[in-house]
Amino acid sequence: MEHKIIITIDGWSSCGKSTLAKQLARELGYIYIDSGAMYRAITLYFLRNHVDWTHPEIVHEAMQHVKLTFMSNHKSGQSEMHLNGENVEYVIRDLVVAEKVSEVAAIREVREFAVRQQQEMGKNRGIVMDGRDIGTVVFPHAELKIFMTADNEIRVKRRFQELYEKNPNITMEEVRANLEMRDYIDSHREVSPLRKADDALELDNSHLTIKEQLEIAKKWVHERLPATKG
Ligand code: CDP
Ligand code: CDP
Repeated sequence: MEHKIIITIDGWSSCGKSTLAKQLARELGYIYIDSGAMYRAITLYFLRNHVDWTHPEIVHEAMQHVKLTFMSNHKSGQSEMHLNGENVEYVIRDLVVAEKVSEVAAIREVREFAVRQQQEMGKNRGIVMDGRDIGTVVFPHAELKIFMTADNEIRVKRRFQELYEKNPNITMEEVRANLEMRDYIDSHREVSPLRKADDALELDNSHLTIKEQLEIAKKWVHERLPATKG
């Protein structure tokens, strides 16, 4: 039987995690899950419904109405985030959501909700998931854990370019402030803070192209897939 593994990719914001995760999943015929999209979609729900997330009981009530599903887009073949049946893949990338997502993702009940679903999605293995706590909390026994980093300014430029295409009014300063704030909250929160798992391999892609980072990761994958060696 084919030996399928679990690959986790964690790291700082905008360093290329999802780009690598998508490509690896495509190469291997695995499922790709963008765990950040789940936290972004919950944040969108809270913002739209004026949920005061500083109160645990209000959060508890609100979470009863959140249904998240990943649906494959037939045209692009990409998996897209749906919130209560609505495709929100595009809107969750807005800075308005990015401004609040780290606060929402720090809430224990929100994390428990997301982690339960993430673990369920990985039960048949053959999955590449990117996020902040995937190698440490969601799949602590994953066969391959990658921790990605890149210089701050390079990450700011990469994310600015993406957001500028959608909204030419956005400034580099706004993007820098958002990345700094999210990285700070994500790595200092009480529940599942962002940290490198002890057994994760570090990939600094500051000066790597997308193709180069893929080649490095593929080598690591093949070292863990005995059936495909040689
Ligand atoms: O793509 P980018 O690095 O900007 O962020 P993302 O992966 O879309 O994640 C958005 C936010 O969700 C992060 O800044 C974290 O606050 C939160 N997140 C998390 O707490 N745990 C995860 N496994 C994934 C994301
Ligand atoms: O998922 P995460 O937020 O970590 O980053 P991403 O969305 O995969 O990548 C952020 C941007 O950096 C994308 O526009 C990628 O094309 C770009 N990138 C790059 O220019 N060079 C790399 N080696 C990796 C990513």
